[in-house]
Amino acid sequence: MSSDSFKHTYPLDPWCIRETAFDTASHFLDETLFALGNGYIGLRGTHEEGYSGPKGTSLDGTYLNGFYESESIHYPENAYGLARTNQFMLNVPNAKGIALWLEDERFDPLQGTLDSYERVLDFRTGLLRRTLEWTSPQGRKISISSRRLVSFTEKHLFAIEYDVTPLNFSGAITLVSTINGAVKNLEAGDDPRVGSAISGRSLVLADIEQAPHFSALAQRTVNSGFMLVTAAQTDVRGVAEVALARNGEYLEQSYRIAAIQNETVRLTKYGCYFTSRDYPESELMARAKATLAIASSSGFRALAAEQERYLADFWRHADVEIAGDDALQQGMHFNQYHLLQSVGRDGKTNISAKGVTGEGYEGHYFWDTEIYIFPFFLYSKPEIARKLLEYRYAGLPLARERARQMAHAKGALYPWRTIAGVECSAYYPAGTAQYHINADIAYSIKLYIEATNDEEYLLNCGAEIVMETARIWMGLGHYDRQGRYCINEVTGPDEYTALVNNNYYTNAMAKMHLEFAASIAERLQREWPEHFQRIAKAVMLEAGESEQWRHAAAHMHLPYDAALQIHPQDDSFLDKKAWDFASTPKENYPLLLHYHPLVIYRHQVCKQADVVLALLLLSDQFSLDDKRRDFDYYEAVTTHDSSLSSCIFSIIASEVGYHDKAYAYFMETARLDLDNTHGNTHYGVHTAAMAGTWMGVAYGFAGMRVVDGDLRFAPVLPKQWTHYQFNVHLRDCLLQVRVEQGCTTYRLLQGAALAFSHQGQRVALTVNSPVKECQ
Ligand code: BGC
Repeated sequence: MSSDSFKHTYPLDPWCIRETAFDTASHFLDETLFALGNGYIGLRGTHEEGYSGPKGTSLDGTYLNGFYESESIHYPENAYGLARTNQFMLNVPNAKGIALWLEDERFDPLQGTLDSYERVLDFRTGLLRRTLEWTSPQGRKISISSRRLVSFTEKHLFAIEYDVTPLNFSGAITLVSTINGAVKNLEAGDDPRVGSAISGRSLVLADIEQAPHFSALAQRTVNSGFMLVTAAQTDVRGVAEVALARNGEYLEQSYRIAAIQNETVRLTKYGCYFTSRDYPESELMARAKATLAIASSSGFRALAAEQERYLADFWRHADVEIAGDDALQQGMHFNQYHLLQSVGRDGKTNISAKGVTGEGYEGHYFWDTEIYIFPFFLYSKPEIARKLLEYRYAGLPLARERARQMAHAKGALYPWRTIAGVECSAYYPAGTAQYHINADIAYSIKLYIEATNDEEYLLNCGAEIVMETARIWMGLGHYDRQGRYCINEVTGPDEYTALVNNNYYTNAMAKMHLEFAASIAERLQREWPEHFQRIAKAVMLEAGESEQWRHAAAHMHLPYDAALQIHPQDDSFLDKKAWDFASTPKENYPLLLHYHPLVIYRHQVCKQADVVLALLLLSDQFSLDDKRRDFDYYEAVTTHDSSLSSCIFSIIASEVGYHDKAYAYFMETARLDLDNTHGNTHYGVHTAAMAGTWMGVAYGFAGMRVVDGDLRFAPVLPKQWTHYQFNVHLRDCLLQVRVEQGCTTYRLLQGAALAFSHQGQRVALTVNSPVKECQ
């Protein structure tokens, strides 16, 4: 089925998405959009009763962030140092199954008549609600009303409340609670963005427990050797008969009820997942039982109330209000909500390119986290941002190992894509060669320290990461004959250009990184000499290293073309043949699916923002004229085939005064998944673009920049909007920014005082005294 056919139009509600028809044509896509998650468990929006629609219109996926199988990567033509092991997020047992029988007829929305149907994903309650009325082929009428949640406060738990009411009959209703452990992952085929290369099963049965209200499966992954326990507790009142059945790894518990017309039968199901990535194997089953027992005794309503409280706090910090464009408002909230559902917050997991909504990119974590997603959490929920950085600290030993494999005697090189820290990219030109990942991580640590003053993180994790990763530039680069510090044979963010010398973004970010590392070393020596000694000893830092970092940074080669007055993407980019856009048919996009990489690499054509991204991240190093010229040049050669591109172009367009373009690029980002504009949302949401929507408002329209800890705004109001409003967490303050026609109001919601600048003028804000700046 062509992915273009997966489209769905929802009513424009700011706080939910709602579907009012059961549509097999959009079903695959809806499974992603209506997915629930809590940063650990991800349940695609498949229905409890299963799905009997056409092949290729469903992926019944359940995922656990960071729970993976590994496999060896086999290269028919081998080379030293290539990534050896892939890790991919597993599709784990589906424990949410509930089959429903009315006497001998099985409920199936695609049989009989669906008299009414509505499904709502509510961003404020965190519930997926479904109500429907159905008439069976033999004329039995029922209503079903169900609510599902994946707990934000209990990482391992999800729950479903399922009500059935017979509307025109009294008789036997049988509810069957199932766990389906015979699951496997989707196979990727030719599209690298879809799934994994593995085929067949990855989980092997270790144990089964079944009792009238409890069932559990223990399974072990074949290669990674992890144990997984999937368990469920099912509570039903007024049951006449319970029967247990099992078919391989498919478990069933049937509850037969003598139902009475117009009286509701309720089943409540609690499900949980525990793995040996978190706890010793011997504890998993007991932990599952205890979690389910607590959930069942508190009941669904209590869990739902807790969920709502958690979300109220989230929105109090994170809400971005957009008045005047309902479609964008919905897109914004949808994206923010899905980011919260996707982000790992245990310090052991991170946020994958598709969150926990699908198998695209195999559940891998990329630079997407640090450069796209991190700012949203940092300035909304800094405690979550810290967890993302803790994850990187946990990966430092493996990053050191990788550096040695790559012939760097010192330092640490983070993997381009990974789950548990090993390099998983089997295509090094667009993988390992993206050394900028090291600088991206250092950049996010810099933002974090400046925004939070979290000295504990700096001293115990951050300083070590920043210094170890900075050392790689010294092993990688060299001074050329003119004394310029050059970095050769790397790939920048733009994946349509590979293995180049002096990629502008990489060099500029490496310079920032080296300076930051040197300043940390100096600060530690000054303020915390004992910590400096400890880290220096641990990483065997030699005398003079930080001076070398400063020297390389000062002499970093930052390409500039005097004739065009732009920053070339790299040494060779401007001399390449132009891509013939005029003769490229629309259906040949994205180019990566229609041209060999070499064909693409030979041309001046970009998949995504590269120099333009540097203009944002290192904002104060460029004049406005520089920014405009770079934007103009690169806009003409960029396809935006990557979903990471439009948001950055929107932000810079705003800054240089191209307001219509800024708006158009922003539109593309804000509803990228809701409108499935990249045609692949059915394989999972695009978390980087989702966070790019937040950046589009804060960095774009509001012109927010944080330069060396100093906060600045230069707000504009898009003419389509009447106002917009968002919050920024900085140090102990929560600042509310409200932009209206002609005026911006700054208000402290938390904290005593905050100084920042508005359109270049200093503002000293204190609690209870909002400041209104008008032109
Ligand atoms: C982009 C990368 C990104 C990856 C995962 C690719 O298409 O080119 O920059 O990290 O997707 O989102």
